[in-house]
Amino acid sequence: MDRREMLEKSAMLVGSICLCGSIGADDPPESTCCITPEIEQECLTFNQNSIIIDLGKTVTLQKSGQAVYVDYPGKDLKMIVVREKKNRYFALSRLCTHGGQAISYVPERKKLQCNSYNHSVFNLDGSVWKGPAPNAIRSFDIISGDQRLEIFF
Ligand code: FES
Repeated sequence: MDRREMLEKSAMLVGSICLCGSIGADDPPESTCCITPEIEQECLTFNQNSIIIDLGKTVTLQKSGQAVYVDYPGKDLKMIVVREKKNRYFALSRLCTHGGQAISYVPERKKLQCNSYNHSVFNLDGSVWKGPAPNAIRSFDIISGDQRLEIFF
């Protein structure tokens, strides 16, 4: 483990800093706390008021602790979907209410953390756990079934 990896793992354990805010804009983000994959498009079905995720077609939500970004084409819905544990999922806005930066899931803490250097932290119900974010992030109703999630908006 090199020095950078050690710092990142330490930051994750204590919940203080990550290196995303300290690297230049030209550098790709390397901190694992700030990397959330996009869900595979082939597992999505779009309805008028919901999105269905076929869990049999996705590898990005197969394990507890995983999270993915989900978008609805043509709608201003930027979601993060979290599989906290088997049959327990959450769907929330992924935009921080402080400055609109993206949010990532930190499975070790079971919290959502803003990717900006201020690092607001949110509970899985969307409420603020640590500011400076002033308000909760939007939480979407979600129904999980056999190999299927339906998220309502
Ligand atoms: S944008 Fe999230 S803490 Fe500032």
